[in-house]
Amino acid sequence: MKIILLGPPGAGKGTQAAMLMDKFSIPQISTGDMLRAAVRNQSPMGTKAKEFMDAGGLVPDEVVVGIVRERLQLDDCHNGFILDGFPRTVAQADALKEVLAELDQNLDCVVSLEVDTEALVERLTGRRSCSSCGRGFHVKYDPPAADGTCLACGGTLLQRDDDQEETIRNRMQVYHEQTAPLEDYYREQGLLQVVNGMQDMKAVQQSILTLLQGC
Ligand code: AP5
Ligand code: MG
Ligand code: ZN
Repeated sequence: MKIILLGPPGAGKGTQAAMLMDKFSIPQISTGDMLRAAVRNQSPMGTKAKEFMDAGGLVPDEVVVGIVRERLQLDDCHNGFILDGFPRTVAQADALKEVLAELDQNLDCVVSLEVDTEALVERLTGRRSCSSCGRGFHVKYDPPAADGTCLACGGTLLQRDDDQEETIRNRMQVYHEQTAPLEDYYREQGLLQVVNGMQDMKAVQQSILTLLQGC
């Protein structure tokens, strides 16, 4: 199964990708997670990317396309993958098409998660993630342990640097200007499937699994 998860910041791409990864035993390829790892490692690429990420803007296409091109060539992608947060521009989508053609692969489905703007802000301001194992939480919808630590490993929970309200607003605007056009891009290719992302996490997963049966 070769899937793209499309949707605005906070739509639930990471949450659903984690569930699909377990279900189908295929890797989640999150450009956001890979860029944050590069920032943590203070690589030259990470240091440059951080400026764009902190402002809620997009990291240049050639950087992100390079990361994904390398990642898709690894053996664990042969049976499928879940792209989470990539592509985000028409140029990235065109580049992905070329990379997949080189690898003799095709996309099965593009799942677009639709969520109201107010719900997105609530999801992002309430999001926490474990500094040790990376598991994600939400203070209201997927709460951590009573003492505020990670339910899985007891680790300390952190808030993402870009989950501040002003940055969230920038990210939303960037999404509408640069990423939302991909809905039409993939609709025209007959690949787009829209899911109501306002349902609870399990219901969203069920909707995705049901539609994937037809892909
Ligand atoms: P990225 O990390 O991709 O961030 P994003 O697209 O803004 O999306 P998020 O990760 O914030 O949201 P999500 O949809 O994964 O939601 P989640 O499942 O966590 O990118 C970050 C930055 O990196 C970008 O701004 C850019 O600078 C750069 N970047 C990354 N990719 C790039 C690219 N391709 N090109 C250029 N630059 C790039 O859910 C959010 C919260 O809601 C969680 O707390 C969760 O528990 C909760 N939740 C989830 N589902 C539900 C539900 N159904 N009901 C209630 N709560 C829910
Ligand atoms: Mg995410
Ligand atoms: Zn943990």
